[in-house]
Amino acid sequence: MSDTNEKKLIFSGIQPTGTFTLGNYIGAIRNWGPLQDEYNCIYSIVDLHAITVRQEPAKLRQNTLQAYALILACGIDPEKSTAFIQSHNHNHAELSWILSCSTQFGELSRMTQFKDKSAKHADDINAGLFTYPVLMAADILAYNADLVPIGADQKQHLELARNIAGRFNQKYGEFFTMPEPFIPKTGARVMSLQDPSKKMSKSDENPNACVLILDDKDTIIRKFKRAVTDSEAEVCYREGKDGINNLMTIYSAVTGKSLEEITSEFSGKGYGDFKLAVGEAVADHLEPVRSKYEKLIADKAYLKECYTAGAEAASKITRKTLSKVYRKIGFVDIR
Ligand code: TRP
Repeated sequence: MSDTNEKKLIFSGIQPTGTFTLGNYIGAIRNWGPLQDEYNCIYSIVDLHAITVRQEPAKLRQNTLQAYALILACGIDPEKSTAFIQSHNHNHAELSWILSCSTQFGELSRMTQFKDKSAKHADDINAGLFTYPVLMAADILAYNADLVPIGADQKQHLELARNIAGRFNQKYGEFFTMPEPFIPKTGARVMSLQDPSKKMSKSDENPNACVLILDDKDTIIRKFKRAVTDSEAEVCYREGKDGINNLMTIYSAVTGKSLEEITSEFSGKGYGDFKLAVGEAVADHLEPVRSKYEKLIADKAYLKECYTAGAEAASKITRKTLSKVYRKIGFVDIR
């Protein structure tokens, strides 16, 4: 009917851990909308992954709905893409079990995120935290995704997914697609406003370090006004000017202006003017996202309609994968 079969398939999972940061938005999420025409896109709010660390049930439910509404507010169109909540498609957990039986304890022990998280949550080093990357492999392989948009911290997990796929293919014949990391050309790296040598992170102790995409205009401007810069007074992109470089990157990302244009726009002006301009530009840029989000989160029935349809579309794909996997590994057919 259409050319959908020729389009490559993108899969990504998003943890429901509260509002996204400006860094998540500029570096990743805002690039997803424009991809929807060129690729078949599947996005999942990964609540099964979230419970590898302790969660308060009411909060988890709220964060999951929030994350779902947020990806729609950021440009994922549920008519064009498949957007669903991971626990609504049981095939992820099922495939994860199968894949875990061909994943070695040693390979999982080498995952740096497991080491980091088990140090951070020393009182809850549960088996799920350990097998987390297998579930992620199942997410990706269940759809035979070609491309997986990920940050640097997930590279090792994707590599593991490729190893798992390769081993399965070797044993049972070519079956799983080898997923590749996908790094959109336009993604910029946004650093902390308080310590521009660190990535912007919502877990930063200093609330001024990080802008959340649902922050109101005054909050955004206040955070930018307090951004750390340097002792010069020159808006230009240069080594050693991490704070200014970061602000210029952000300003460029939200206005589309080049670094040269920004330099001339602020030549002869002080950092105060520049920081205010960045804050205002970011707030104006995020305003439509915030108002779309407010509308969506107030309309639970619409959200439910979207995630139910998303889960059905997702299950339809993965059921096929799973029944083929069951046959390959020697399970008896029920019909
Ligand atoms: N582990 C990813 C993260 O923490 C989230 C994730 C889960 C994911 N499953 C995925 C990302 C599949 C890409 C593909 O960011």
